[in-house]
Amino acid sequence: MSAYDAIAELYDPWSRTVTEDIGFYVAEARKARSAVVELGVGTGRIAVPVAAAGVPVIGVDSSAGMLEVCRRRAEAAGVERLLDLRLGDLRDPPVPERVRLVTSPFRALLHLETDAERLEALAAAYRLLEPGGRFVFDVFAPSVEDVEETHDRWLEREPGIWERAHWDLEGRVLTLCLRGRESETSMRLAWLPVEDWRFLLEQAGFEVVACYGWFDLRPYAGGEDSIWLVKRP
Ligand SMILES: C[S@@+](CC[C@H](N)C(=O)[O-])C[C@H]1O[C@@H](n2cnc3c(N)ncnc32)[C@H](O)[C@@H]1O
Repeated sequence: MSAYDAIAELYDPWSRTVTEDIGFYVAEARKARSAVVELGVGTGRIAVPVAAAGVPVIGVDSSAGMLEVCRRRAEAAGVERLLDLRLGDLRDPPVPERVRLVTSPFRALLHLETDAERLEALAAAYRLLEPGGRFVFDVFAPSVEDVEETHDRWLEREPGIWERAHWDLEGRVLTLCLRGRESETSMRLAWLPVEDWRFLLEQAGFEVVACYGWFDLRPYAGGEDSIWLVKRP
């Protein structure tokens, strides 16, 4: 059972305003000229627009509830034939295919808490790629202001949808509680400084092509978000 199962129906209304990354991932998928594997595909917030652009997607997720919402969303958009959804762990994805692009949008890798787990996920992404193929993902590390504004406070993010962030700065773990009218959950997100991500990526054998600070491709300059484009040599 995944922490996301309880809020699968809440996820889309909760993330309604998160749209800044869609064009970026669709553009990367168009460039790849192959199917895309999305690790942590969720409800298809990115995968459905990618499929709508004509690119086949193999989507892996450990939440059956999220995949069910994704399936419905793909049907509503008329792209279900381009979306192949598979229940599984992103550290050991049930994907024998090899592709030119693997993605993990919207901080999915932050659900991994140790370097050993992160390296397993990076090794899995590496294995899925043909030589020259790319792994593209985004992660974040909080700013002092974000922590001060949100720590241990229930905030209404969307009408009827509340969230509370508890920041463990020493352990670098955010415990996020999410509550709707009929469901609630709690999940942990473990962040890392950008330099630690770079070190792990290089340890996993990737070549860093770019590290952006936002989805408009501005170079990373010390903000909360980092967007990584790395290559299997
Ligand atoms: C923040 S959501 C992102 C979903 C989607 N990529 C998006 O951009 O909206 C993170 C997703 O990763 C999935 N996830 C978390 N840990 C996972 C794991 N170890 N293996 C597979 N999926 C996982 C969750 O179930 C959830 O659907």
